[in-house]
Amino acid sequence: MNKITLQPVTNDNFRVITKLSDTLSDYQKKCVAPNVYSLAQAYLNQFHAWPRAIYLDDTPIGFIMVDINPEDIPNNENAYYLWRFMIASDYQGKGYGKEALDLIIEKCIEDKKDFLYTSCEMEGDMPYQFYLKYGFIDTGILEDGEEVLKLDISTKK
Ligand SMILES: CC(C)(COP(=O)(O)OP(=O)(O)OC[C@H]1O[C@@H](n2cnc3c(N)ncnc32)[C@H](O)[C@@H]1OP(=O)(O)O)[C@@H](O)C(=O)NCCC(=O)NCCS
Repeated sequence: MNKITLQPVTNDNFRVITKLSDTLSDYQKKCVAPNVYSLAQAYLNQFHAWPRAIYLDDTPIGFIMVDINPEDIPNNENAYYLWRFMIASDYQGKGYGKEALDLIIEKCIEDKKDFLYTSCEMEGDMPYQFYLKYGFIDTGILEDGEEVLKLDISTKK
């Protein structure tokens, strides 16, 4: 079937979702906070955080979290902010990250958002090249040492 879906994190999948972070390389661990940390932040910031497990059919393969009430968006644009995003190492490079992002874009469209922002480490090619290939543009803004990227949702409609 090979269908990617986004599902809530619950008591049933919490442990396996937190374990996915262990599969990342040392460099990748610099790019994204551990999922357990993100889930703690989600608990503490419920007005902001929209955390979801990424499933391939019945298998949890990643984690994504959107800030649905972001502050500090340039020019007060009507935007969401992609806060955390990871695919477990065995499942990377197979198009699943792109499919998960497609589902976030669907949510942006449903919620009538104009832009999706994110930021990323610039030490390696990834994830910068992944985002550019997807359609994000580099704003040239640096925030906490990370490059700020922006996607115009209308280009994906
Ligand atoms: C970034 C990440 C989420 C991407 O997910 P993924 O499933 O590996 O990516 P996909 O397989 O969907 O790749 C989509 C596109 O990016 C491109 N891409 C993937 N890896 C690449 C690389 N190393 N260099 C350049 N382009 C790359 C692919 O060519 C693909 O384009 P195509 O479908 O036109 O060929 C995943 O690699 C990851 O979890 N990395 C570690 C954590 C991280 O950096 N998170 C982001 C925090 S900002």
